[in-house]
Amino acid sequence: MKILVNGLLIDREEAAVDIEDRGYQFGDGVYEVIRVYNGVLFGLHEHIERLFRSAAEIGITLPYTAEDAEWDLQKLVQENKLTDGGVYIQTTRGKAPRKHQYDKGLEPQTTAYTFSVKKPENEQKQGAAAITAEDKRWLRCDIKSLNLLYNVMIKQKAYEAGAYEAVLIRDGAVTEGTSSNVYAVINGVVRTHPANELILNGITRVKILELINQNGIQLKETPLTEEELRQADEIFISSTTAELIPIVTLDGKPVGSGAPGPVAKKLQEAFQASIQQEIRIQS
Ligand code: PDD
Repeated sequence: MKILVNGLLIDREEAAVDIEDRGYQFGDGVYEVIRVYNGVLFGLHEHIERLFRSAAEIGITLPYTAEDAEWDLQKLVQENKLTDGGVYIQTTRGKAPRKHQYDKGLEPQTTAYTFSVKKPENEQKQGAAAITAEDKRWLRCDIKSLNLLYNVMIKQKAYEAGAYEAVLIRDGAVTEGTSSNVYAVINGVVRTHPANELILNGITRVKILELINQNGIQLKETPLTEEELRQADEIFISSTTAELIPIVTLDGKPVGSGAPGPVAKKLQEAFQASIQQEIRIQS
């Protein structure tokens, strides 16, 4: 298995993290998770664009171009003969003696590797359980930073409660999941939090919003109240690895009919079709 370290493909066993890498010590870096279908990196361009945005927001100048990154990740996928799975890429600010402030001249450290992933087919078909939790994260959730401590704490809480995801609520408004975007359907209208500093603008979210428009479904990017969420006809989540999963119970109570709803099912079909289309275009 090869991994990518600063643009070079090396054996995984040969890779090492410096103990004073700021990513390792401060979570001072950014990352992306990209799905691979049939050897094709789905939404690659959009993911790399977001990586550059996240890096710029925290003052890291990436030492490669978007084209180089795309090329290198494609090479990595080919080298590892990955057909279905994913790629993780992260860039940290660099290595330096530990202090909070940093010198501008550090060399960012980039690593990327491939992994296999199982499509969550059961959850996609039958729906999944979610719990709710207070959103106590920082106020720059639009940056895909390595700092995921609160997300980790709450995802673990969901997992221990037998749920697939936790829906986060800040000041009475639904923001997103610990590692997904959240939508509800109320009287035929899809509602989801607007893409501002309180959520990560998911690449899957952007695709789903396009599909909502293409399918003539009504959409409102306005925050849902907790009460609206609890009374919604349908709830669903999206992410690179989950794709689109209907949420059929919330805090142990059924959502709508308690089964995946028609809007979620229609969008799942449309999403699968868009994957097939991208595979055809890029193969
Ligand atoms: N997480 N919101 C948060 C907080 C996320 O961590 C993610 C993705 C999303 C969905 O974004 P996208 O559609 O681009 O995957 C929303 C990734 C998959 C992860 O950390 O594993």
